[in-house]
Amino acid sequence: MKLSQLFLLSSILVSVPCVAHAEEAIWKDTSLSPEARAKALVKAMTQDEKLQLVVSHYAIDNGPKHLPVPKGALGSAAYVPGIDRLGIPAQQITDAGLGVTNPNNIRPGDGATSLPSGQVIAGTFDPKLAYEAGKMTGAEAFHRGFNVLLGGGVVLVRDPRNGRNFEYLGEDPILAGNVAAQEVKGVQSQHVISTVKHYAFNNIETNRLKVDMKVNEKDGRESDLLAFEIAMKKGDPGSVMCGYNKVNGDYTCENSYLLQLPKKEWGYKGYFMTDWGGGHSTVKAANAGLDQESAAEEFDKEVYFGKALKKAIAKGEVPESRLNDMAYRIVYSLIKVGAYDHPAAKSDQPEDVAAHEAISQKVAENGIVLLQNKQNILPLAATVKNIAIIGGHANEGVLSGGGSSQVTARGGNIKLKTGLQKWPGPESYFPSSPMKAIEALAPEAKVQFAAGDNIQQAVDLAKNADVVIVFATKWSAEAFDNADLNLPGNQDQLIEAVAKAGKPVVVVLETGNPVNMPWLNNVDAVVAAWFPGTSGGPAIANILFGKVNPSGRLTTTWPKSLSQLPYPVIKGAGKIANGDPNDATKEDDSIISSLNLDVDKANVGYRWFEDKKLTPLYPFGYGLSYTTFKYTKIALHSNLAAKIPTITAEVTVENTGKKDGADAVQVYGTMPDGSPSRLVGFDKVELKAGESKTVSIPLALQGIANYEPKAHHWELPAGSYTIAVKPDALANEVVKTTIHLNQLTLTD
Ligand code: BGC
Repeated sequence: MKLSQLFLLSSILVSVPCVAHAEEAIWKDTSLSPEARAKALVKAMTQDEKLQLVVSHYAIDNGPKHLPVPKGALGSAAYVPGIDRLGIPAQQITDAGLGVTNPNNIRPGDGATSLPSGQVIAGTFDPKLAYEAGKMTGAEAFHRGFNVLLGGGVVLVRDPRNGRNFEYLGEDPILAGNVAAQEVKGVQSQHVISTVKHYAFNNIETNRLKVDMKVNEKDGRESDLLAFEIAMKKGDPGSVMCGYNKVNGDYTCENSYLLQLPKKEWGYKGYFMTDWGGGHSTVKAANAGLDQESAAEEFDKEVYFGKALKKAIAKGEVPESRLNDMAYRIVYSLIKVGAYDHPAAKSDQPEDVAAHEAISQKVAENGIVLLQNKQNILPLAATVKNIAIIGGHANEGVLSGGGSSQVTARGGNIKLKTGLQKWPGPESYFPSSPMKAIEALAPEAKVQFAAGDNIQQAVDLAKNADVVIVFATKWSAEAFDNADLNLPGNQDQLIEAVAKAGKPVVVVLETGNPVNMPWLNNVDAVVAAWFPGTSGGPAIANILFGKVNPSGRLTTTWPKSLSQLPYPVIKGAGKIANGDPNDATKEDDSIISSLNLDVDKANVGYRWFEDKKLTPLYPFGYGLSYTTFKYTKIALHSNLAAKIPTITAEVTVENTGKKDGADAVQVYGTMPDGSPSRLVGFDKVELKAGESKTVSIPLALQGIANYEPKAHHWELPAGSYTIAVKPDALANEVVKTTIHLNQLTLTD
């Protein structure tokens, strides 16, 4: 054999495995971009493998059809089998934004850490803490073997009755979007995909499976879609869940405007999944841009993305390229967050429960809001002798929100035997007792409890106390809105009666939303603890006793009454959306079928109040401290000629009181036309007593821009802009400056 022949033979011999290796190396090669790896993976997949990725399977045994939990599933909201030959891990998909859930105790005894509700997370005004919160939840998901988390929620709070507001981050798009972005990043730092939801305008739960939200493009882009835009551009979540509702006549999961906007304009590379039961079609949804049908067999009328999709592709109704794109987006996200290279597997190592609970507690301590503190009754002295604790199951735990995001605490939840027993109930308390935490901080005190159901007994206890702490609760949950803002049961009468006992009264609210407080003038202090999470007990006690100086701020404007709201009547509010078919889904006048967002438009929350010159009970951004702050200076630095123009505010803030504390510095911008101001920047600043700091706050220019639908861009019209620091959204400007701009266009 000639040398050349020998060479040829040897190269043929080695080239076969080499080619295979080279191909494989493309998607396994971590030095390549996730895009290149995902592209190579999709190229190597068969059509059936791609189809396998685009439908998930319910993995709890309590669905309407009672399908068995699929083999290989850990037991959770959904499961997609992996593709072993390509190293694609199974998608183990779990709820939710506040912590890893364990519905139906499907994983026996598996408790987890729950963060406080979204109002508290966003109420910290601290994106760094939001990142820590997301990282903790992501770590708990990964530890249990999950690689997709169905959180976080970033629907704008347009109405304080929405049953899911506790899963969301308030009414302001700049605050909500930025906090969500950091939560997403935190989750994804743990190789777990984070799912931003419920895209979009899922602002009410009443008739949520059908309600049609009507909104024009400009208002939509400047409100709810702005929150999603920020969360998606800055956080880059692997997936987004579209909502149950319709928007402008089309279900969100087959609404091409909604699905194409992020993909085409925001550069979004991840995938859209349906909400559970939110799939309605094959061709329309696939062509609109939906990428994955969730728990299809269990909840949708039929499986739209299974055989039906295969058929539609064969008939040319859905291009094959669309299926490739769906599969690409899913594997891209798995690779990008590291779920491909670090496959999640249930760990038998212990997790750092103390560290995780400490994060939840820190969020609570930084986000709980002190609403009223007459004569500085708070903080309580550790030497107080006689404390009466009344109501709210405070001897046992703290309230949590219901539905798919309901976390089970370690050791189990305390479930009420009264009220709604079927899903999204029952009303459940985390076993973190505020009373026990109070006892620990006031060891000399006699601490007594009255449940509050017997008002006379509570009054008798109050009469003999030095201070009375009433815990008032209002549960809320997915699938229904609160019918009104009243505290349920006898709680208003209880507080009124106890207030007459003549002793100092502190009310701690554990609610999913603002509530009416007819007794407000008759009590001394009010603390809004929302749903304070699995370490809520000690967090509340630390605030009451001043171990922690409260620094949380309201993320939702607290109306005086429903009549102040843009939509005072929501027909059917209080009815459960996916319950009895004769109830919420009946097509008659008793239930809302569409909501035209043309009333508040982009003036969600505080901007509505400013626009209509209404004075709410408490505005967005409001919250007291045990110290006082003063803003002394604001200066702007801008670089408007840059490709991405920037304006930064330098704000000097001083702690003028006697206690160390933290302030949420809020910068608001007003456009030349004088339209209601909007939060354009914020930061949380820790200050020792007497200390002063200057903070640099980059301004979100979209907050002072108009979205121009025809031009498809954001524009800051020429003129003078006022940039001011205020202690809350509707307060007077404390320090302000103006900046004159020539017309400025924002491009991506
Ligand atoms: C909720 C989603 C949730 C899903 C899976 C639905 O009821 O709307 O937020 O992720 O269930 O549990």
